[in-house]
Amino acid sequence: MFPRADLLLGIALALSVVSPATGESAAGTTIPLRKRSSLTGADGVFNQSKAVAATHRTVNKHRQNRITLQENRGHLIGRDSGIAPASLPADLESRLVPRAEKHQLEALTELESGREWAGTITIGTPGQPFLVDFDTGSADLWVPSSSCTGLPCTGKSKYNATKSSTSLKQSGSFSILYGDGGTVSGPVYSDTVTVAGVTVKNQFFGPATALSPDFATDPIDGIFGLALPILSKIRKFPFFANAAAQESVRVSQFSFYLADNGSELYLGGTDPTKYTGKVEFHNVDAYEGYWQPTGAKVKVGSGTILTKLETIIDSGSTIIYGDPAAIQQIYAAVPGAQPFEEAKGYYTFPCDSPPVISFNWGGKDWEISADNVNLGLAAVDSPDCVAALAALDLGFGPDVFILGDAFMRNVYSVFDMGREAVGFAALA
Ligand SMILES: *[C@@H]1O[C@H](CO)[C@@H](O)[C@H](O)[C@H]1NC(C)=O
Ligand SMILES: *[C@@H]1O[C@H](CO)[C@@H](O)[C@H](O)[C@H]1NC(C)=O
Ligand SMILES: *[C@@H]1O[C@H](CO)[C@@H](O)[C@H](O)[C@H]1NC(C)=O
Repeated sequence: MFPRADLLLGIALALSVVSPATGESAAGTTIPLRKRSSLTGADGVFNQSKAVAATHRTVNKHRQNRITLQENRGHLIGRDSGIAPASLPADLESRLVPRAEKHQLEALTELESGREWAGTITIGTPGQPFLVDFDTGSADLWVPSSSCTGLPCTGKSKYNATKSSTSLKQSGSFSILYGDGGTVSGPVYSDTVTVAGVTVKNQFFGPATALSPDFATDPIDGIFGLALPILSKIRKFPFFANAAAQESVRVSQFSFYLADNGSELYLGGTDPTKYTGKVEFHNVDAYEGYWQPTGAKVKVGSGTILTKLETIIDSGSTIIYGDPAAIQQIYAAVPGAQPFEEAKGYYTFPCDSPPVISFNWGGKDWEISADNVNLGLAAVDSPDCVAALAALDLGFGPDVFILGDAFMRNVYSVFDMGREAVGFAALA
């Protein structure tokens, strides 16, 4: 079992001593992140198939998270837990799952079209390198295992336990549902994990012996979860909780700067060159598992449209998702906005007058820039553009929004594990 006391009290005791009083910067280390491409094609048009695939991944990730939370806490978080896995349209599936030889050739060029904020970590002694997606919306680390012989593992870096002197096989196994019955699964190991000079010993993780097909075309090797411990499917502290507990970082914060160039994850504080002014912090409840500040308002221009929202800050999601009724209310306040017929849940707006949409947690209005609200033209030569807030029923209920890149790119975001808070600051 995974008693709440272990998870929450343990964290508080381990981490409170290393949390700074005010969120000021402290010496830490920077991990350069590769750019995640937008959902906009080279021709400036919204890429519908990419958007569908991204949504599919998001739906299944959060579905798995809700099941995990339910198991870990012994009760439900949403109004229904029986939500079916999203399935990809068959034609899209065939386009997304390449043949092995094709993938080998595409591996390098595919890096540019990745859907994640990826960076390099090492696992083992000596370190075996992996390109992983740094995901604040999940809490486990997995990479392909050297015994993964299936197609989706082709061309990926693989963890070989016998090559690591610090590798330990642990009891049990893990299985995470990502796609259409596609799971990432395998045994559980612990080993030394290093991210930009920050080392954690005995980090539990999953060397996956099977990968879901939707990872075949993905340039990343695995996923690096940065959410709170109760969301862990393998029921162990994620890397950053261990880094803080083992005092591998002096400050129990990590921070994201997401941009077209120079994106970075900063471990152990904040990077003062990337933001100005104070960081505005808002508490989260570790029991929720997510970095989920509450009490948010959504504004369109100066008008408040929605209040009392819970907002999951999810670096693993490209856009912003909200409950269909909530999203409809937002677009009702945007002149010229209409549902986008080609892609369910998306809306368009007139390209020459992008809406000014902002989120507010009781401090500043954190605005989504005209660039970030725009996913591209609705069609070649269309006067309409597709907006980066879409309607999606993730089963969390009507008041929960997922804020992905389209939000995170507008702010410097700080995740503080010791004080259980998320902070936003203005970009430098
Ligand atoms: C849309 O994205 C898919 C998947 O990444 C890609 O194969 C396709 O070429 C893109 N289409 C356009 C028009 O850019
Ligand atoms: C793992 O490494 C060992 C030792 O170098 C090697 O003998 C073995 O073939 C490797 N396993 C796989 C599946 O690559
Ligand atoms: C970002 O990178 C591109 C390509 O390397 C370059 O052309 C552009 O000037 C850079 N932009 C900034 C703001 O540094």
